[in-house]
Amino acid sequence: MRILVTGGAGFIGSNFIHYWLQNHSSDQIVNFDKLTYAGNLENLKNIRNNENYTFVKGDIASSKDVTQAMKGIDIVINFAAETHVDRSILDPAPFVITNVVGTQVLLDAAAKAKIKHFHHVSTDEVFGALDLASRQKFSEETNYNPRSPYAATKAASDHLVRAYFATYNLPVTISNCSNNFGPYQFPEKLISLSITNLLEGKKVPVYGDGLYVRDWLYVEDHASAIDLVLQKGKIGETYCIGQDNDIANIEVIKKILAILAKGESMIEYVKDRPGHDRRYAMDATRIKKELGWHAKYDFDMALELTIKWYQQNTKWWKKLKDRKFEEYYEEQYVKR
Ligand SMILES: NC(=O)c1ccc[n+]([C@@H]2O[C@H](COP(=O)([O-])OP(=O)(O)OC[C@H]3O[C@@H](n4cnc5c(N)ncnc54)[C@H](O)[C@@H]3O)[C@@H](O)[C@H]2O)c1
Repeated sequence: MRILVTGGAGFIGSNFIHYWLQNHSSDQIVNFDKLTYAGNLENLKNIRNNENYTFVKGDIASSKDVTQAMKGIDIVINFAAETHVDRSILDPAPFVITNVVGTQVLLDAAAKAKIKHFHHVSTDEVFGALDLASRQKFSEETNYNPRSPYAATKAASDHLVRAYFATYNLPVTISNCSNNFGPYQFPEKLISLSITNLLEGKKVPVYGDGLYVRDWLYVEDHASAIDLVLQKGKIGETYCIGQDNDIANIEVIKKILAILAKGESMIEYVKDRPGHDRRYAMDATRIKKELGWHAKYDFDMALELTIKWYQQNTKWWKKLKDRKFEEYYEEQYVKR
């Protein structure tokens, strides 16, 4: 099989490529990535010379780039996106270009190239927010109700994927996954930012009251779920992925503080994010029952592994927290 992985130099895409080459060593992977601030070829340094791996620099919103990259490809897995909610609030435009226009350009090229399977990687954020007090969960039947520019553009991309299935018979599947964490996550998201700030002796910024609940999943478990969807998923179907790990941001941070033997004085409450979604929770019954997926890592074990990885790879993340990142950090957490 020749698989085109878009956004393979990002957090989940690069973990997915490592997972795939370890588990399907005869397949060919083409990593197609624009290398935005979030794309980092260092994530794939140790497979650079693997004969089953190729990197192509390109933009999913460029029909020329995408048509060229699609030649000889059997399967497309679309991870490429602008992904950070806070950045989407500062400037939504690149989110529309990549997440909406980019997905449509990719779908169009895939239909013309008669790709055998197009898998679109999406998020639980398309469903909106749940009440803190409720026991409700999102499922494949939940109506879309995105509330941030990031979530709105991902929702639009999901609709386009379904439209290409219904209108052009493109063989598609979609997965909507909860929040991921693990190695190679850009140090701007809750867990990677908290760990790296503490390793630098800096405080951890916490939005509002910190009572924002997310269903965390270790990134390797996300990769194994996508693997099953590709092997056994029903064409045209959507699969929700999550682990019943609903936990408040403040609790996540307290666990990180405890593992790193730091006190709660390292927590700094900052002004809340506008439109901050209270709670996300996933009902992953379909993928568990129909495809037999289950997560291998529990949250505490995976958090320890992740912290160890950031401790052992300081060079990797220190470079990313450069002057440009500091300017963004100042805008996001200090000036508001
Ligand atoms: N991180 C999460 O918790 C999470 C949860 C559920 C779903 N997702 C989805 O998974 C996918 C990957 O997320 P991530 O956290 O790895 O993101 P990321 O920001 O770490 O990586 C995104 C990658 O896409 C590339 N990219 C951006 N614009 C591009 C373009 N126009 N053309 C080609 N490449 C482009 C970037 O260079 C980068 O390598 C996204 O579609 C995201 O919506 C993420």
